[in-house]
Amino acid sequence: MGSEDVYYPSQEVLDYATVKEYNSLYKYSIENTEAFWAEQAQNLEWYEPWDKVIDDSDKPFYKWFVGAKTNIIHNAIDRHLKTATRNKIAFVWEGENGDLRVFSYHALNREVSQFANILKSMGVKKGDTVTIYMPQIPEQIFAMLACAKIGAVHSVVYAGFSYESLGERIKAAKSKVVITADGGFRKGKIVDLKSIINVALEDNPYTQVVITVKRTGQNVEMVSDRDYWYHDLKSLPIASIKCNTEVMESTDPLFLLYTSGSTGKPKGLVHTHGGYSVYTYSTMKMLLDVKSEDRIWTAADPGWITGHSYIVYGPLINGATMFLYEGAPNHPYPNRWWQMIEKYGITILYTSPTAIRGLMRFGESWVKRHDISSLRLLGSVGEPINPEAWKWYYEVVGNKKCPIIDTWWQTETGGHIIAPLPIFPLKPGSATKPFFGVQVAVVDDDGNQVQPNEQGNLVIKNPWPGMACCVHEDRERWIETYWKKYEKFGWYHPGDAAKYDDDNYIWIIGRSDDVIKVSGYRLGTAEIESALVSHPAVAEAAAIALPHSLKGNAIYAYVILKKDFAVTADLENELKDQVTKLMGPIARPESITLVDSLPKTRSGKIMRRVLKARAQGLDVGDISTLEE
Ligand code: PRX
Repeated sequence: MGSEDVYYPSQEVLDYATVKEYNSLYKYSIENTEAFWAEQAQNLEWYEPWDKVIDDSDKPFYKWFVGAKTNIIHNAIDRHLKTATRNKIAFVWEGENGDLRVFSYHALNREVSQFANILKSMGVKKGDTVTIYMPQIPEQIFAMLACAKIGAVHSVVYAGFSYESLGERIKAAKSKVVITADGGFRKGKIVDLKSIINVALEDNPYTQVVITVKRTGQNVEMVSDRDYWYHDLKSLPIASIKCNTEVMESTDPLFLLYTSGSTGKPKGLVHTHGGYSVYTYSTMKMLLDVKSEDRIWTAADPGWITGHSYIVYGPLINGATMFLYEGAPNHPYPNRWWQMIEKYGITILYTSPTAIRGLMRFGESWVKRHDISSLRLLGSVGEPINPEAWKWYYEVVGNKKCPIIDTWWQTETGGHIIAPLPIFPLKPGSATKPFFGVQVAVVDDDGNQVQPNEQGNLVIKNPWPGMACCVHEDRERWIETYWKKYEKFGWYHPGDAAKYDDDNYIWIIGRSDDVIKVSGYRLGTAEIESALVSHPAVAEAAAIALPHSLKGNAIYAYVILKKDFAVTADLENELKDQVTKLMGPIARPESITLVDSLPKTRSGKIMRRVLKARAQGLDVGDISTLEE
């Protein structure tokens, strides 16, 4: 190990960890990749086994466990009902207002079956896509699982998105049925979701039914013959507690999840039943080291991939107990998280660097008020973690005894790709090494491996079961976005810059394309720019990311106004509001600068890198392609 900060695992961690050795198993998994994944898959139950572990006859559209019959629900719920796990707590939920709901696996099955029967009675069939736009309440999870159970495809849209982003996603998924709630609680206030749905569904030719769960109880507008209260439907005989799980092909779609890219509209990544089940199961078990006695809190929104994989599917497939909290971390006071960890005996906390920095800001006295010694493992996800936040997490939250599992992955990868096992010596800020069965490298634009400690492009050299199968209804975009750059090698190009050090530890630097990570949320510069240009005053716009101490990055926008537009005193706020209105509060720019011109290449592409360098007072680098 190099001379920098290295944190070694305690004997207790070494003794407890599921996987005790990395090198030999990694070597085996790379030399016998199909056998390795087949062994992992054999830990799950299948209705019928596979003929082939991987079918790569239509690269880069890889198919996993081809010929197998399965349903993720069989492994997440049904399988547990045959054992003592049926009486175990599957899921504990706390509302921001203190409401508490607890579900055993048996109770979870009943809720999911009822929801599934309701969906069926509303005409949802195998293969249909259902959009879910909900606060973090149990019914959000039931709705996802109910879709999977009947073979429908769920498309969860994060509840922080505005009507425009939501409407676009509902239309793209052609959802006949949309599931929502009247609202959710956040910082003691009601976030009114139903009115956002109502606007999003104007001019929507697809949606015939909106199922609304009552959470906040304020008056909401219900459209007759379209909108139904969930509790009314649940009291009807159609909502039987018995429902068969649909038998699916391993390669059938399980969900769509829209995510931002460097160009154009968000794309719907498609994940499938078989491969995704195996991958979320294995990563959760080996990297987050989940055991049956664990109570895991993935403090993220179920509306993002982290929530799909490590709130919902990973913990349930592993038969563990998961925890979900509805609201803000500092409501009513900044001890809220620590209080819940103490109350529920949480053993694994998995969250984002932004959340950690946000809580760190309030100081350690809030943490010290509580006995959080139940924690034994901590995880980080979504953005690079700065060493200062890492150390605070390690020392103050983990009391120097919990390994920090810094997991690098993406919506597209379905699960962790680079992360330490709990037994690794850790270096704050490094995601360390690739997971079993996955080969990664840091290369230059021509595909040559860069030297240690030199920046390059991260690539994944071989397929893995958790990978998305494609982009929804857009074959070309899957190829173009991820596979074109290193086409001749057949490598996946995630769009992140990275380096590796003398110990072969990988350090993720950040996005190398026009994707911005704000507080761990992924946004495309193109979407922000088009929101700005939709304002009548704006002729052209460019958005860049600059470092921010709390959010990781913040958005800085530059706009050229239309010629005869009179500048008003409040224009900057108006433009910020425009982005918030169209995209949601997470996309609100930090600052807006009015400019006369934008740096562009001769072919008219905005050189955001030049704007960024100028804003930071750095050398603008090679500008030979800059227009005169
Ligand atoms: O830039 C990387 C960053 O998040 C991107 C993926 O974003 P998304 O699809 O929204 O998924 C987030 C949750 C998995 C990556 O391309 N990222 C994710 N995890 C890390 C990270 N950057 C550094 N370190 C991480 N641990």
